[in-house]
Order: sequence, then structure tokens, then C-alpha cells
Amino acid sequence: MTQPSPPKDQLFQTPANGDFRFDDKTAAVFDDMIARSVPWYDEIQRMTGEIAADFARPDTSLFDLGCSTGTSLLALDPIIDPAVRFVGVDSSQEMLDKARQKLAACPSGRAFDLVQADLHQTQVVENASVVVMNLTLQFIRPLYRERVIRNLHQGLNEQGCLILVEKLTLGDSLFNRLFIRYYYHLKKRQGYSESEIAHKREALENVLIPYRPEENLELLNNAGFRHVEEFFRWYNFSGLIAVK
Ligand SMILES: C[S@@+](CC[C@H](N)C(=O)[O-])C[C@H]1O[C@@H](n2cnc3c(N)ncnc32)[C@H](O)[C@@H]1O
Repeated sequence: MTQPSPPKDQLFQTPANGDFRFDDKTAAVFDDMIARSVPWYDEIQRMTGEIAADFARPDTSLFDLGCSTGTSLLALDPIIDPAVRFVGVDSSQEMLDKARQKLAACPSGRAFDLVQADLHQTQVVENASVVVMNLTLQFIRPLYRERVIRNLHQGLNEQGCLILVEKLTLGDSLFNRLFIRYYYHLKKRQGYSESEIAHKREALENVLIPYRPEENLELLNNAGFRHVEEFFRWYNFSGLIAVK
């Protein structure tokens, strides 16, 4: 079912008042914001679905950690066995309210469990064949990331998979600078002005903390994943698949 077009993101036309937050203002424009801010967002959703469909098993759960407005759950619904339980987790009630609205229009009749939880505090994953964590680990404070990944590894069944998409920083300062510049070119092509880009960068500075590719790989290997591979890369954005 087609969803109405999301309102346009104009949040950073004026300087942000403090750190970036997933509040009601962000939730209202989030779908437009993410589609214009993440390279190949639709293709990432498609690949997430393609991979998830191969690992999802009946009578297990598929978790979407940081499900935001439910876009991935909605995209996964038609391609995943109805006997797989769908659980969306997010700390922001405003984002979950949007997700609830969108998912209510879903024609399949699948029950979606939407859980408000802070991944810093709560271990939510159990009996899972698939965990999707797209563009969310980067918002978890670095001190907690190892525990979060270990917990979700524990809650995955054998042969279950984690799909992890993250923005990256790079150890090599030349490439890091270049890739950030290319990313800002993308944002300009998507209609954001230089001041909007700068205001958002400032707002995200203390909140979105990207890891280097090798740090993410280390997290997954240390947690005990047996197979880890990059399935998507665009400059400073990466998608990883990890199988238990
Ligand atoms: C960039 S969005 C994720 C986008 C979404 N996965 C997608 O593909 O459309 C990050 C989400 O993570 C959520 N989030 C941030 N910190 C969190 C935490 N500590 N616990 C749970 N959710 C969190 C935010 O509320 C937000 O909805």
C-alpha cells in the first residue's frame, strides 16, 4: 500500500538548539530526512529484505533495533513468512507513534510488536533468526556498544543473522576528509543548503559517533559471530552481515 509523501525536512534551516534528538519534530519529517541523507537508502532497504528473507525462520522473531518510523518493518512484511514475529524497538516514543500509524495501514494483517526501550539499558533480543540494526549503533554510546552487540548475539539463534548498517569514520585522515566532502556533495544534490548541512553536523556532533570499519568488525568478531562480510559500501557508509 502506498504511504502519503512525508513532509519535507527543513529542521536545520535555522541553527539547532542543542543536540540532535529523535523528538516529535524529527519524527514528523524523518522519512524525508533519512531518504535524502543516507546514500542508496532504498537499495539498503531492499538488500536488508533480500538478506533477511534468507535467514528468517518460522516461530522465531525478527527484531528491528532502532526501527524509527517502521520503514524497514513495512518493507520486510511482504517478503517474510507470516510465522515470523516482527518486533520493532526504539527509545523514542514519537518515532514509535509514527511507526504505529504507518504499520496500521499495512494490508497483510501481521501483528507488529513495537517496544519502547533504551538499548543502553535493556536486553530485548531473544529467539531471533534476524536482527536488523540500521544506522542505530552509531547512536549508542561507545562504552556500551560491546555489551549491546554481545547481548544481541546471545539472543540470536544459531545460524541467525545480524544486518548492521553504519556511518563510518576512517583512520586515514585524507580519505576521511574526502569521503565527508563527497557525502556533503550528496546532501547538496538532495537539496540541502550549506548552512543546513553545517547546522545538522553541529547538532549531531556529540550524538552520532561513527566507528572505523575495523572497530565494527572487531565488535562483531569479539561477540562471537562466525561469518562477517561487508555487503554494502558507499564512501563512509557500510553495511555488514554477521552470522552466528
Ligand atoms: C537513524 S535512525 C534508524 C533508521 C532506521 N533503522 C531506518 O533504517 O529507517 C536511529 C533510530 O535509533 C533510535 N535510537 C537512538 N538511540 C537509541 C537507544 N539508545 N535505544 C533504542 N533506540 C535508539 C532513534 O530513536 C532512531 O529512531
